[in-house]
Amino acid sequence: MTNRENFGSRAAVIMAMAGSAIGLGNIWRFPFIVGEYGGAAFILVYIVCCFLLSLPILLSESIIGRRTHQNTFGAMSTLAPGTHWKWLGLLTIVSPLIILSYYSVVGGWSFAYLIKACALQFKPENVEEVTGMFAAFSSSVWGPLACLLVFLGLTALIIFSGVKKGIEKFSKISMPVLFVLIVVIAVYSVTLPGAMDGVRYLVKPDFSKLSSDAFSAALGQSFFSLSLGVGTMLIYSSYVSKDENILVSGTGTALFDMLFAILAGFAVMPAVFAAGIAPSSGPGLVFETLPYIFAKMGAGGQFLSAAVAILFFLTILVAALTSSISMMEVGVAYMVEEKGVSRTKATAGIFFLTLVLGILCSLSFGTLSGVKLLGNTIFNFCDRLCSNWLMTLGALMFSIFVGWKMDKAAVRDELTNGGTLKANSRMFPFIYFLIKYIAPLTIAAIFISGLLA
Ligand code: TRP
Repeated sequence: MTNRENFGSRAAVIMAMAGSAIGLGNIWRFPFIVGEYGGAAFILVYIVCCFLLSLPILLSESIIGRRTHQNTFGAMSTLAPGTHWKWLGLLTIVSPLIILSYYSVVGGWSFAYLIKACALQFKPENVEEVTGMFAAFSSSVWGPLACLLVFLGLTALIIFSGVKKGIEKFSKISMPVLFVLIVVIAVYSVTLPGAMDGVRYLVKPDFSKLSSDAFSAALGQSFFSLSLGVGTMLIYSSYVSKDENILVSGTGTALFDMLFAILAGFAVMPAVFAAGIAPSSGPGLVFETLPYIFAKMGAGGQFLSAAVAILFFLTILVAALTSSISMMEVGVAYMVEEKGVSRTKATAGIFFLTLVLGILCSLSFGTLSGVKLLGNTIFNFCDRLCSNWLMTLGALMFSIFVGWKMDKAAVRDELTNGGTLKANSRMFPFIYFLIKYIAPLTIAAIFISGLLA
């Protein structure tokens, strides 16, 4: 446990946490989930979920991680020795690996689209074809598999280089660039002819459209987007030094994350309407829409549109990597610290495990599309299993652990840095109330209603 690395500065902490949070969840998953669940009303539910339920979970994970400076398993064994809580530590090692498998498939798609952008394939002459490109690509065999391999390989390479050099450096540059690009694309997207219907779809809530499972979908999306319930944020917080204000870094991360998701919504949805794509078309939505935007942009200048497209897919790729490394780090930290395996071996082992599952997920868009698990393709099954079940369960357990099992004085100590942060001390009763009652009760209610639905 000696020589454990820490993040270098507050900016680095927020950037790394935001780097984990901001990724395909915001740019790829958020728009298509909003499209499936009906737009503005869903977004409102999502925002409420983020602050009332996800933020307390994020803080719970931060408290456990920073308190112990250990991996999920070690943290649980230290705070509750000899109890069954260590199984929660173990659950959180399995779930990120499943998520990483299908996440890497989408990461691979982003890589493929970066190459398509470099090959100038999004031309104004073939606007019509561009939206159909995705179906052909994702259902083929070798292209997506090669891209999956590249994406997972890059993830392993960064993890192998360690926390400071790898994760920290990487996140600091890419996040601001991505932000600027998303704003540029959103501004362009809302000016497309026919885009106003999309804007209306995003801002005018129609509550009659909210289905009964919209709440569990909103909760699942907000957990996914903030990397919660599987110990990712716990691990990152375990690299945070004792004088950092975790309330500020947590709230900052949640705000940035939400801003990115909503901007991505404005980049994608207006163009979806302008292009006449169905908002509910599922996981391919972003990959059908963005090329359309770039093709249209090309009419105003081929060079500019190609440059924006290349930069955009490049930064998406980087955003996806800063998230995928956070998933891999959970398992690697466990193997290294609990099992005494070397960092290289741990990384290699996890790489191969996720590669195998990733291949199955990728093929489930084509060759294996007939294989159904409880009515879902392998890819969708993994996504549902994690976001609707494992992450919710993990999140629930983390809040119960901090609210009911941990010593209240220790919780206060972590949130207020031993009472030295005055503003945090004043907010403590409210935050503790959220962690102890509001979050677990509401999450349990949503979870159970999801089971019954
Ligand atoms: N939050 C990331 C995103 O939005 C994905 C992610 C990273 C994640 N680590 C996670 C999701 C752990 C679930 C669990 O892209």
